[in-house]
Amino acid sequence: MNSILRNIIRPQHIGAFLCLWFFAGHLQAGEYAVASASPLATQAGIDVLESGGNAFDAAIAVTSVLAVVEPYSSGIGGGGFYLLHQQAANRQVMLDARERAPLAAHRDMYLDASGKADKDLSLNGATAAGIPGIPAALEHLQRNYGRLSLQKTMADAIGYAQNGFEIDDYYRSVAKWRLEVMQRYPSTSAVLLVNGEVPAERAVIRQTDLAKTLQSIVSNGKAGFYEGDVAQKLVTSVRANGGIWSLEDLQQYELIEREPARFRYGDADIIAASLPSSGGIVLNSIFNMLDQLDHDQAEPVEAIHQLVEAMRRAFRDRAEFMGDIDHVEVPVARLSSAAHAQQLLKNYSSAKATASADLRGVAATEGGNDTTHFSIVDADGNLVAATLSVNYPFGSGLIADGTGVLLNDEMDDFSASPGVPNVWGLLGTEANAIAPGKRMLSSMTPAFVHTPERSLVTGTPGGSWIITMNLLGILEFLNGGNAEAIVSRRRFHHQYDPDVIRYEANTFPASTVEALMEKGHQFKVYPWRTGNMHSIIIDKKTGKLDAASDPRGEGQAIIAGD
Ligand code: DON
Repeated sequence: MNSILRNIIRPQHIGAFLCLWFFAGHLQAGEYAVASASPLATQAGIDVLESGGNAFDAAIAVTSVLAVVEPYSSGIGGGGFYLLHQQAANRQVMLDARERAPLAAHRDMYLDASGKADKDLSLNGATAAGIPGIPAALEHLQRNYGRLSLQKTMADAIGYAQNGFEIDDYYRSVAKWRLEVMQRYPSTSAVLLVNGEVPAERAVIRQTDLAKTLQSIVSNGKAGFYEGDVAQKLVTSVRANGGIWSLEDLQQYELIEREPARFRYGDADIIAASLPSSGGIVLNSIFNMLDQLDHDQAEPVEAIHQLVEAMRRAFRDRAEFMGDIDHVEVPVARLSSAAHAQQLLKNYSSAKATASADLRGVAATEGGNDTTHFSIVDADGNLVAATLSVNYPFGSGLIADGTGVLLNDEMDDFSASPGVPNVWGLLGTEANAIAPGKRMLSSMTPAFVHTPERSLVTGTPGGSWIITMNLLGILEFLNGGNAEAIVSRRRFHHQYDPDVIRYEANTFPASTVEALMEKGHQFKVYPWRTGNMHSIIIDKKTGKLDAASDPRGEGQAIIAGD
């Protein structure tokens, strides 16, 4: 049968679709769970759930504690995406709290006189910072979804900012990495370093200005950040450091509710972040290709070959077509279609790797582990998967004077110039060129997966690898894996350019690498930590939860209740 038709009318899909509709509306957990990158944040989320809050209140608590104790990953100076499932209404929505380019931004703002991209401008200091989205998300969650006051849900974060928290080794290692940039700014150095150097083991970091700014959000909601004294200080500090923010930029920032990406693979219903995250569309495209390649029947070497070939093709599309849907036309329906997957696979060979250079070139007009993810399930079956970021470790490295707000460097996620990859090695085109008020393309992919038997709430940081790590995690889930297996799974990644399979040591037996090299694949061991995944599984029959935090990180998963 023609594979498009086969895709549409596989009989098991029809039954499964009906099942999914039934089951998606009947997740009744009883138990509740939080999995995040920090034990303090996880506990804050659990405490909120125990004191009458729902998953959305817990998301506020976890977000705000992470903003204090994991300043290298996320914060109120950053942005992100929240995927919400409201159980009573069986409604899924994505909160787009992605940063926007300032209104004075322009497409060539990171190019020097000779037209060369200046990475220092897009990665470090005030010039690198987009207009933050997290403060808007905190208010939006409380006002539209939560049951408790911000005073209650943000109390722990304010406490940790005011009284301090003890750093871990990971803090020290990323502070070492970003030391030179943090040392440039006395406002940062005085708070996040000690005597201008990487703090000693178990040093306590206090952020009293940040405590005041968090309190201002508690008292005045979003206006406590985007207007008034805090806004004035943010703009003054950004401009004093060479940046281009205005008060209007802050006043205009709006969180946007969007439809998540949604697609099916076998009997699974997969819901993931939509544009301006590329994650959902890229995952959809990869799964469409896997379906056409009968991936579930493939032998181990062939299965890896298929995954790499699908990743390569979907990432090429990402580079060519994807950007902020409110500013550019993106052919989402086409890119997500089975017909497009079939087209992409026309030059697929099971015997031989397709060289990325042999795929249609990306039109060149355009241009560690930081970022954080958490997953929450409450006793009523509401779900939150959120991936939040300041981009590079410690973002731009600049704390805006008198605010405690560490600014992101998310502007680097735009395409700065033809053929110049961002810090994650990702190419882009006109679709992701800088424009005033535009949101930069992201890879952050919080996701839900529902099968007739189980549901998964998952996600991870990891730059461009986010999408492929989620892919591998979801495949592990669909193979019956538990939460520990999902977050621990060894990882590999291909993103079209560079044309190489990067992988964690011990991912493949030597014989597998050899067999794939014979097909023409190239390999490179990735020496850093790949991601920090936090996943929760619901068994739909029993309501029992299973949760795990990535063994590569310092996080914690807690299940309680019932
Ligand atoms: O939005 C994005 O795709 C990036 N700013 C995410 C960065 C990230 O995951 C950093 N962690 N390794």
